[in-house]
Amino acid sequence: MNLSAATRQYIDLEEKYGAHNYHPLPVVLSRGKGCYVWDVDGKRYFDFLSAYSAVNQGHCHPKIVRALKEQAEKLCLTSRAFYNDTLGPYEKFIHDYFGYDKVLPMNSGAEAVETALKLARKWGYLKKGIPAAEAIIIACEGNFHGRTISIVSVSTDPDARADYGPYTPGFEVIPYNDPEALAAVLEGKADSIAGFLVEPIQGEAGVNVPDEGYLRSCHELCKRHNVLFIADEVQTGIARTGRKLCCDHEGIRPDIVILGKAISGGVLPVSAVLADDGIMLTIQPGQHGSTFGGFPLACKVATAALEVVEEEKLAEKAGYLGQIFREEMEKIGSPFIRQVRGKGLLNAVVIEPYNGKQAWDVCLKMAENGLLAKPTHNHIIRFAPPLVITGEELKEAIGIIKESIKSLETT
Ligand SMILES: Cc1ncc(COP(=O)(O)O)c(C=O)c1O
Repeated sequence: MNLSAATRQYIDLEEKYGAHNYHPLPVVLSRGKGCYVWDVDGKRYFDFLSAYSAVNQGHCHPKIVRALKEQAEKLCLTSRAFYNDTLGPYEKFIHDYFGYDKVLPMNSGAEAVETALKLARKWGYLKKGIPAAEAIIIACEGNFHGRTISIVSVSTDPDARADYGPYTPGFEVIPYNDPEALAAVLEGKADSIAGFLVEPIQGEAGVNVPDEGYLRSCHELCKRHNVLFIADEVQTGIARTGRKLCCDHEGIRPDIVILGKAISGGVLPVSAVLADDGIMLTIQPGQHGSTFGGFPLACKVATAALEVVEEEKLAEKAGYLGQIFREEMEKIGSPFIRQVRGKGLLNAVVIEPYNGKQAWDVCLKMAENGLLAKPTHNHIIRFAPPLVITGEELKEAIGIIKESIKSLETT
């Protein structure tokens, strides 16, 4: 890609002064609206990453931005040392919206996962009667739950995990999409297992969609063995896959739900853990918290963001537009395309290297042609536009993807 002087300058600043913990595509964005972003030279792109599914409601949604501005002029942060007039109404809103007794508000997705792990351990000791310091949480191969020491302790991705030991004990990893593996581990030691942590679709692993019935089988097994079913819906939740929560596709109600990203429409770092009283009230005052968790700006922004999901019927849209997207990708018929998979508007194309080109080259070509997406695990491209994208816009975007792939077959 030919980079403008302005683009080069911003990239150089990040290179020089920022930690090198990301490898971005060489575009420098300065503005966003709906499903579009613009770079510093004024070039427009379709955003097909949506900040890893945080911007489901589209960039700078007016209702969400208005809520942010109005609250910012009144009260931003109180900490939880005092009550404020936004948290209670927000907690009731979340209760009514998702149907859980209680919410525990946090900020990042990783913090919410940590919270869920702590909650599961507390419940394991106080309610299930697991002997002290023996609680086990089961997770799945290929998982991605965030970046803290405890979370990478359960990761099977060498990049995420290597050289961060010693690792947190108390985890066991089983294959994903394999209910028998869960059954086997539960048969052996259910008495010390507090929870089963699972992504309904593994997003970072490359949009791995499990077989139909997998989540339901695991949920039943957990019920049978008095083990908490913990759904990490940080990426799949908030309408992304065509339902409010991805678990809704299988009609199951997790014991603990973890939410983040799009709960604020990508406007602020807002996350949440949902559970009923029997679980949530095992944590008492002083035993967990965060200075910003549930701060007034977050409460107002997240309420507006979740209202937008309902008002604009984003789950339904994700469902039918996703279907069209996958059908059109299947029709391209290119040696580059090994597989198309996904649910709703969380999709991926597995790229077969061809003509000396890889997934990264496809992403560069698409960027050149006005569409941004990013490879995950080198050979998989995730396609996850904001859910506010219209049918017409999706058609145009599909045209760009098609044209980009086709042009690489010959050049
Ligand atoms: C399923 C899942 N859980 C947790 C996280 C971590 O969220 P955050 O990056 O906000 O810490 C992510 C981020 O991609 C995720 O996809």
